[in-house]
Amino acid sequence: MSQTPPLLSGGLPVLGHVVEFQRDRSGLFKRGFAEHGDVFAVSLVGQMTAVVTGAAHNKKVYTQTDRALNISKAYDSLRAAFGETLFIAGKETYTNQRAVLQEIFKREKMVGYIEAMNVEVQAWLDRLGDQGKTNISTDMQELTQFVAARAFIGPDFRDELSDSFWEDYRALGNAIDPVLPTNLPIPKFIKRDRARASILKTVSAIVARRKNNPERYDDLVTHVLSSPQKDGTVMDEEQIANLFMGLLFAGHETTAGQAAWTIIMLLENPEHFDRVNAEVQEHVGDDCVIDAMVLRELKHTFDAIDETTRLRPSADVQFRIADEAITFDDYEVPEGWGVIVNAVNSHNLDSVYSDPEVFDPTRKDRGEGKSPWNIVGFGGGLHKCTGMNFAKNEMAVIVARLLKQFDIGSLTSQVDVVTGMGANHPSDCFIRYTRKMPFRHTSAG
Ligand code: HEM
Repeated sequence: MSQTPPLLSGGLPVLGHVVEFQRDRSGLFKRGFAEHGDVFAVSLVGQMTAVVTGAAHNKKVYTQTDRALNISKAYDSLRAAFGETLFIAGKETYTNQRAVLQEIFKREKMVGYIEAMNVEVQAWLDRLGDQGKTNISTDMQELTQFVAARAFIGPDFRDELSDSFWEDYRALGNAIDPVLPTNLPIPKFIKRDRARASILKTVSAIVARRKNNPERYDDLVTHVLSSPQKDGTVMDEEQIANLFMGLLFAGHETTAGQAAWTIIMLLENPEHFDRVNAEVQEHVGDDCVIDAMVLRELKHTFDAIDETTRLRPSADVQFRIADEAITFDDYEVPEGWGVIVNAVNSHNLDSVYSDPEVFDPTRKDRGEGKSPWNIVGFGGGLHKCTGMNFAKNEMAVIVARLLKQFDIGSLTSQVDVVTGMGANHPSDCFIRYTRKMPFRHTSAG
């Protein structure tokens, strides 16, 4: 008879490994791998959870999702905040809505989103002035929020989304807690429910305006209104509001973390910085417009973005709940257990990468880590990140516009990974900058 995966040492009574999971996930997973190899178990406040590593196990998790493994059950706390949408909805709703997701992220729709990226990135650079220092970690949080809002609801988003909307949005994020029951009457959950009600009102009004005058708008929400679901119906206002918030959440902090890390990793590795910088100076014109044609030329930039995804993945864990028993090697994960795909160990395997801890964007040219299941930073299988190209393009626009217009250098010698319950991100990192071309683009506020 198969045995369950071996339990990692060091768990506390009742809490198990949850404190270490929140504070130092990468240390926890590395310890588990050193102790037991590519399948081991942790306890997260009584929720027994198998942690798996490596292409074969990752593939099994992704291909068994929506079969033996349930994705929606694994994200209760997200559902309480964002409602029945995306993969946090049940399988039937997800399958129905997936047609819309595919439509709104099609290549031709991306053109408008890339324009939105250019405008907001330039607005950020304009706000910097000619020289000074700035915290790239916090700047990226704000910038990626504005890019998403502009791409989703267009240039008037500053008028359509008041400060209280962003406060409500933060209240939803602060209530993400996979450990506590989501209906406990505690302050953060009460705030979450109030915030949700108020957001639904705001977004419903936004949707109604687009429904009444579709010809005036060319944004993601308007695309949703003209994209039928699998059953032929168009999403209603509440469904669109949930989708809007779900996409904002899925794409905001994740992209912020990785965009900041890309700049930080390049600054820490001058050889690769120079290669990317030379490419940007060669292919980006004096108008600084980064459209699809320019993006196609930025090979080294995209390689650096991919290498950052490997070394500093912001979505470093993906959860599932076993609806039925499932085996990994000789171990059986029983029904009701959690399963975690983890990027920390999978992205650092000696057997796949030479000097895995080194930032080396050229490793792809040597064919390292070719299997699509090695890198899990954007997930895999049916639920692989729909916004991956959106995010990568956004990071490329940020890097290219920044390097084209500014000389930059790092002022922070050590930057750490900050983990919590959501996406992780770099600790404060200050860079110095000096404008080298007098470019101004002032169409964003
Ligand atoms: C660097 C930035 C990003 C990272 C690291 C990231 C990561 C991920 C990961 C790991 C998943 C799979 C979750 C799982 O299997 O449990 C996922 C799914 C998803 N992401 Fe992203 N994401 C990023 C940016 C974005 C953006 C910008 C958007 C939208 C504009 C987005 C929309 C989505 C959606 C809709 C899904 C669900 C796909 C499905 O279930 O079919 N993501 N993302």
